[in-house]
Amino acid sequence: MSKVAIVTGAGQGIGFAIAKRLVQDGFKVGVLDYNPETAEKAVAELSAENAFAVVADVSKQAEVAQAFQKVVDHFGDLNVVVNNAGVAPTTPLDTITEEQFTRTFGINVGGVIWGSQAAQAQFKALGHGGKIINATSQAGVVGNPNLTVYGGTKFAVRGITQTLARDLADSGITVNAYAPGIVKTPMMYDIAHEVGKNAGKDDEWGMQTFAKDITLKRLSEPEDVAAAVSFLAGPDSNYITGQTIIVDGGMQFH
Ligand SMILES: NC(=O)c1ccc[n+]([C@@H]2O[C@H](COP(=O)([O-])OP(=O)(O)OC[C@H]3O[C@@H](n4cnc5c(N)ncnc54)[C@H](O)[C@@H]3O)[C@@H](O)[C@H]2O)c1
Repeated sequence: MSKVAIVTGAGQGIGFAIAKRLVQDGFKVGVLDYNPETAEKAVAELSAENAFAVVADVSKQAEVAQAFQKVVDHFGDLNVVVNNAGVAPTTPLDTITEEQFTRTFGINVGGVIWGSQAAQAQFKALGHGGKIINATSQAGVVGNPNLTVYGGTKFAVRGITQTLARDLADSGITVNAYAPGIVKTPMMYDIAHEVGKNAGKDDEWGMQTFAKDITLKRLSEPEDVAAAVSFLAGPDSNYITGQTIIVDGGMQFH
């Protein structure tokens, strides 16, 4: 029987690339997103046989638990959870609002906690272990300009990953994270635009602010990140837990 994965934020960008890669790897995939249109579009592209759309806001504990239950009811199992959904507001310090802070932490940090909690409950009910894989960022490894709130959430995700690796090991659950660099997705184009605008420059300047220090001298494709997640989702990473794999073309060395 196929293994089953849930990928949050799989309607577009990195999450969609991960869902696509996991289907190629032989998984059945629950495509969780708060945007029903992109979730359904993703499933149409991946095929209804291999993918199943569920709509939930990852910052809402009960919605996440219900969505996970629907995927387990549909595919009959759950082995891998990728907590990928995230938002990335550009926030020079003097512009940060309480609403922005609460929403961003609710999605990026809350989403990882609720997704991990629902994963733990389902793995336990199914009587086996599993793998939890969380999205952090190179901006969660080293401070980036203008990303106080976002960077804060992504540093938190690395901490939660380490803590849960210890807490869940006895249940046969590994917990790891991936830290993308500058990936060509709608999120990154938006950040580049905002950073450029704040400096009185254009989008290209904003992108280069982040891109200039990439050792491999190219921006990342979503598929570069999906390849690392494929490794973390598969048996070759069974002896790895609590780690963050940096997939950034060599921006940060740790
Ligand atoms: N793009 C990059 O360069 C980059 C770099 C480092 C880390 N990341 C991280 O990778 C992950 C994916 O980023 P991306 O670039 O693909 O972003 P994206 O904005 O292109 O896609 C994010 C997806 O998540 C969904 N989503 C957002 N909030 C949600 C919520 N509350 N509930 C359910 N779904 C929600 C969106 O609808 C969308 O489909 C994020 O966690 C992001 O922080 C991205």
